[in-house]
Amino acid sequence: MNVNTSVSVSEVDALQSGPVYAQIEFRNVTKTYGKVTAVEDLSLTVSRGEFLTILGPSGSGKTTTLMLLAGFEAPTAGDIFIAGRSVAAVPSYRRDQGIVFQNYALFPHLTVIRNLEFPLQMRGINAAERTRRVRRMLERVHLSDLGGRMPSQLSGGQQQRVALARAMIADPPFLLLDEPLGALDRGLREQMQIEMKSLHKEFGITTVCVTHDQEEALTLSDRIIVMRAGRIEQADSPEALYDRPATSFVARFLGEANMLENPDFQFKSDTPQASGTVAMIRPERICILALDAQKRGDADQRQSVNGTVEDMIYAGPLRKYHVRVGNSFFIVREHVASGQQIFRPGDEVCLDWLRSDVRFVAV
Ligand SMILES: Nc1ncnc2c1ncn2[C@@H]1O[C@H](COP(=O)(O)OP(=O)(O)OP(=O)(O)O)[C@@H](O)[C@H]1O
Ligand SMILES: [Mg+2]
Repeated sequence: MNVNTSVSVSEVDALQSGPVYAQIEFRNVTKTYGKVTAVEDLSLTVSRGEFLTILGPSGSGKTTTLMLLAGFEAPTAGDIFIAGRSVAAVPSYRRDQGIVFQNYALFPHLTVIRNLEFPLQMRGINAAERTRRVRRMLERVHLSDLGGRMPSQLSGGQQQRVALARAMIADPPFLLLDEPLGALDRGLREQMQIEMKSLHKEFGITTVCVTHDQEEALTLSDRIIVMRAGRIEQADSPEALYDRPATSFVARFLGEANMLENPDFQFKSDTPQASGTVAMIRPERICILALDAQKRGDADQRQSVNGTVEDMIYAGPLRKYHVRVGNSFFIVREHVASGQQIFRPGDEVCLDWLRSDVRFVAV
């Protein structure tokens, strides 16, 4: 085989057997800036082909984690392994990663085709192969007709797609995304989420993504880590994280949660409550009914309490109620449907839920 000497290790692998996507491992990684500990004793393995999202409040260490992985920052302690090899001594430009930042950073003076060719050229790939790969990639991201345009002649969503295509075109061992859809409006974000998901399915590239957008994290990820003050609070699949949060911090951070601290009604659950935990129920798990509504068939598996509506918020497909029950305050989320009874502030109502939908989370 004719291997060009400027071709990197991952490129050789790719030429031999298709792209090889890397496993990533953080081993006890700490990063301090003076007195500030941005990341603390972080241990985490991202499997080959996994889409991992880092979520967390501002200042929790998300960007720092990504910068450490990209090699723009060096750990104060611990080590990072990519495809089983320590990268402590590997500079950023030798890690071969694809990166997409919030502001796309396309080369403004180059056409779409030239933007996509650039990473291939850097890896010493010949002109015929570059043309072939660019054409195939443009087809995959549905931009075949726009190859001759300059970035300024594209919409935000189209630019974002070019940025993604450029990050992936050289078959990098992993992809880093920092708020990749941050600059797009809601409709476009949702459309791009679907496209990114299908691209990830097709390519299977190991991806680490930082986002503020919970819905984006839930939609795209195989696994999400929630960070808090430089540490991992919980790492789990989107469904497990939402349905079985380990702590009240995670429950509150990911979606809305009703925390039942010292309710003044007898509280029933199927499992015993461990000490140091608080009961939690998601707003969409609660039914809101008129006081005289007929009992359900499975009433023995449910709990009902009476309360007063304090507020009703209409939000298109959803209606959100604020309901006071003694000293407790509930949020109830109901999908709008035909023939549904609508309650108004002051109405007496019955709240009703399955006992098995109650979770106990660490305080
Ligand atoms: N270069 C730096 N010098 C000093 N402190 C820093 C530096 N970079 C980050 N920090 C601090 O480290 C902590 C983590 O910052 P980081 O940027 O990783 O947070 P983040 O989770 O990405 O937050 P955001 O959601 O606001 O982007 C913060 O307290 C921040 O002030
Ligand atoms: Mg950040």
